[in-house]
Amino acid sequence: MENTIAFLNEKTNNFKPEIGIILGSGLGELADEYCDFAVPYNEIPGFVKSTVKGHKGRLVFAEINGKKVVLMQGRNHYYEGHSMQEITFPVKVMKALGVKTLILTNAAGAVNESFSPSDLMIITDHINYMGANPLVGANDETFGERFPDMTEVYKKYLIEIAEKCAQKLGIDIQKGIYWANSGPSYETPAEINMVRTLGADAVGMSTVPEAIVANWCGLNILGISCITNSASSITGEKLSHEEVIEAANNAKTKFKSLILEIVRNIS
Ligand code: HPA
Repeated sequence: MENTIAFLNEKTNNFKPEIGIILGSGLGELADEYCDFAVPYNEIPGFVKSTVKGHKGRLVFAEINGKKVVLMQGRNHYYEGHSMQEITFPVKVMKALGVKTLILTNAAGAVNESFSPSDLMIITDHINYMGANPLVGANDETFGERFPDMTEVYKKYLIEIAEKCAQKLGIDIQKGIYWANSGPSYETPAEINMVRTLGADAVGMSTVPEAIVANWCGLNILGISCITNSASSITGEKLSHEEVIEAANNAKTKFKSLILEIVRNIS
């Protein structure tokens, strides 16, 4: 970790971000528009390379609306074959850089039948069905305790800020529970029925490992899903990665303005 921090301090002239943002599939454009320093993941000690199409794979440092922000343009996923520890290492790096608030974003399938593609959903809670937990293994007490409480992973005050910002911008916003599967296969109709029965509103393949680690090390978390498709079985249509990227593209202007407004309003 010391290696990584020293490396980034040198690359960024000791940039000290207070907000971290992880940009999901198709949502990375914000980091093209705001970029004071950019460091590719494959140069950063301890980071793994992203292998997914549509993901750039770089850490971007920028001042946005008066706040110092570090953005992950693209994330690493469990389904790429990386360990839970590897994919959540960047969250620990953000903590060590001084980040206090982490905004997690992703593309997700709608399980709640009242949601439509291109809707944005504030994550109120999650269900970890990935079959693994990034905190398994020796506990590093410098970051957090062995058995972290999980009663308010997604902070209520941040949810309120996000709702107010959406309202101000005239963006209809959904709220709901995010269910995480390991992927990379999408869900079967039977699996989606199970997910709905068990109380989730959207399903995806990311975010939860990062939320678990961020909660453990005391970051204030806000999660926003971009609904990219109706999850398997709702429409009977087949699902493709291209469809997911296209829907994220359609939502990106609204998504970007919402994130910018939230950044402005986080203290
Ligand atoms: N399922 C899982 N992950 C996803 C989906 C989905 O329908 N859409 C975008 N990411």
